[in-house]
Amino acid sequence: MERITKADDRVHRPAGPWTPTVHRLLTHLHERGFVAAPAPIALGEQLETVTFVPGEAGEYPWTADVASEAALVTTARLLRQFHDAAASFPRDDATDVWSQAERLPVETIVHGDFAPYNVVYDGIAAVGVIDFDTAHPGPRVWDVASAVYRFAPFTSSADEGAPVPEFADRVTRAAEFCRAYGLDARSRSVLVETMTASLVSLVTTLETEAAAGNPKFVSDLAHGHAELYRADVAWLEEHGDAITAALV
Ligand SMILES: Nc1ncnc2c1ncn2[C@@H]1O[C@H](COP(=O)(O)OP(=O)(O)O)[C@@H](O)[C@H]1O
Ligand SMILES: [Mg+2]
Repeated sequence: MERITKADDRVHRPAGPWTPTVHRLLTHLHERGFVAAPAPIALGEQLETVTFVPGEAGEYPWTADVASEAALVTTARLLRQFHDAAASFPRDDATDVWSQAERLPVETIVHGDFAPYNVVYDGIAAVGVIDFDTAHPGPRVWDVASAVYRFAPFTSSADEGAPVPEFADRVTRAAEFCRAYGLDARSRSVLVETMTASLVSLVTTLETEAAAGNPKFVSDLAHGHAELYRADVAWLEEHGDAITAALV
């Protein structure tokens, strides 16, 4: 059976210990007027049910629309709206469970895997954000860094076979994302090191989960994802100063 199934306007997904907290977050987002996230419908022992967000997830290979500068801008604005709505989430540290450790400084609840494949598009318009399993308290730049990594892109894994834009164009896209988001100067100055930190954390998660036998991560590891992220970390160490110079 498929891990994630859709029926009518509902999506059924595996639930985890963090799902009650994530549902509280999703409810809060809707109450704050951020309706681009799924709304929680039900929570069982094994499965959660949320609303289907209409549109197309930005899966690889990208459409011309998703690859466009306009999509970059609408994505950054949507991330900003999500962070602004999540910032007032009433935390309850006695009962909240997140799948990821909190990251300092806590400015909002971050998505934790903000990437094209977890954003839903209607043409060039980013209209949805899905897959909140990795949400946790953290700094805004945590999500901006992962978005810039995928959208500039500064990853070698983006689109197999697709032409990679010139370095200068990718840096311009990174700066454009930060501008459209309205990222502050301090966050821009740590964006590249945050990107590296999130890749290192991704590798740790991947290897830990694969070792524990989690099938999704066993497959990712077998497909060479850990080596790829390590190569991207090395690449960022080489080019980080040039990227930061264009962002601050
Ligand atoms: N609430 C939703 N609305 C629309 N599409 C969804 C929703 N949840 C999942 N999907 C679709 O299923 C795919 C995988 O779901 P996702 O929640 O991202 O899980 P995972 O990344 O862990 O496989 C998404 O890329 C999207 O196409
Ligand atoms: Mg996903």
